[in-house]
Amino acid sequence: MKCAIILAGGKGTRMKSEMPKVMCEVLFEPMISHVVRAVKSAGCEDICVVTGYKHEIVENFLPKEIKTAYQNPQLGTGHAVMTARNFVEEHKNDEILILNGDGPLMDAETINAAYGYHKANKNAITLISAIVDDTNGIGHIKRDENGNLLCIVEHKDANEEERKINESNAGTYWFNGNALLYALDRITNNNVQNEYYLTDSLAILIGKGENAGAYVCEDNEVVLGANDRKQLNILNNIMRRKINDFHMENGVDIPCTDGVIICTNVKIGASTTILPNTVILGNTVIGSGCTIGPNTFITNGKTGNHVKLDNVKLSDSEVQDGTDCGPFVQIRAGSKICKNVHIGNFVEVKNSVVGEGTKCAHLTYIGDSDVGESVNFGCGAVTVNYDGKNKHRCKIGSHAFIGCNTNLIAPVEIGDYAFTAAGSTITDNVPENALSVARAKQINKADWVLKKKPYKNMK
Ligand code: UD1
Ligand code: MG
Repeated sequence: MKCAIILAGGKGTRMKSEMPKVMCEVLFEPMISHVVRAVKSAGCEDICVVTGYKHEIVENFLPKEIKTAYQNPQLGTGHAVMTARNFVEEHKNDEILILNGDGPLMDAETINAAYGYHKANKNAITLISAIVDDTNGIGHIKRDENGNLLCIVEHKDANEEERKINESNAGTYWFNGNALLYALDRITNNNVQNEYYLTDSLAILIGKGENAGAYVCEDNEVVLGANDRKQLNILNNIMRRKINDFHMENGVDIPCTDGVIICTNVKIGASTTILPNTVILGNTVIGSGCTIGPNTFITNGKTGNHVKLDNVKLSDSEVQDGTDCGPFVQIRAGSKICKNVHIGNFVEVKNSVVGEGTKCAHLTYIGDSDVGESVNFGCGAVTVNYDGKNKHRCKIGSHAFIGCNTNLIAPVEIGDYAFTAAGSTITDNVPENALSVARAKQINKADWVLKKKPYKNMK
């Protein structure tokens, strides 16, 4: 059985954040969440997260099935694993993956490739490493003249020669459970930081005569971690590029990636075009043949095929096949815009169903409403859903025609095929096929201007 320990106890002083470091976000998702996903998709069935600084925040964020061990005080990565000793005992006959919660680019493929290497060589410890350009702050992997592993030297403890070593410890390791217990009993804090370094287990297990290996990644980006905001920005850019590349490889057209941010869980159909400044978050699913953007922001949205969203903000809502929205449209939570609907500029829809083929071309608010098929909203129509205390719903039948500047005072129902005259304030239900005129009758006062002389210099 594969299992994993994720180290997430550190404060992350260099982040200067209110939150524990692993809650700092890459692509709008805490780093720990990316790590949990990678570990799960690598097939680890039992997972323990070591928490520490502001541990409740991390504990509350994690899914229920994940175990936690609380490390207090935080005396280093080796000490963090010692805190999870019960978990290690439980899995002493298993292979245990240990990884840093601040390395969100580590992926399941790399973890599993390292596992294959670990098993094939019957290693007690296999660490993941990569050759990096920036050696500042890394754990340097020291080898003898034949290339055999010796130990890991932390940057702060390293001498000038050792600091030149550009093979970096990723902070991801496969351990045999029993070997890990052996190492935990022998790690000391005899170093510059007075911390218990997990990295010392390498030399300890080599000293015992166990097999040890390093799985060197070709992609040196997967090993990167973030200790400060600048590194967080670097990780954001790398992950953003990787996700955009993934979608382009799957037939999504992103002619210019400027401002295009697509989060990890988003799904996009082939032949969809994503235009600049478009941010797609959460569990959004976009169909195929759509044009999304420019300047569109979607959170947990669902679209059918051939949907157009131009300058749209869409949250927790669905837009079905062939519908076009925008520019400058907001679709708020709980809305369902059915097929072939047209929503034009400066329209807001909230918690409403808009039936197939309905047209709402400009300056309209549809809130808490059930709108039938092929309804026409004139410019400036408003559903007046809030009486100052409560929200009420409007129901608008199919084929109804809502004249310009109509106010529908909810709760109210408009029947199928009914008309409301422009400028009407509708407080009572309108039966089907009726025309409702709810405005003052027009009076023209002849020659009023000549008698009243309201303008200056009039004779
Ligand atoms: C660690 C490694 C280093 C490696 C680097 C990769 C050690 C001693 N060094 O250094 O070799 O190159 O990761 O990113 O392991 N944590 C705890 N409890 C603690 C201390 C840390 O849970 O007492 C957690 C942190 O929250 C973090 C992870 O362990 O998620 C790594 O700690 P960090 O302080 O970032 O170690 P690095 O200096 O990056
Ligand atoms: Mg780190």
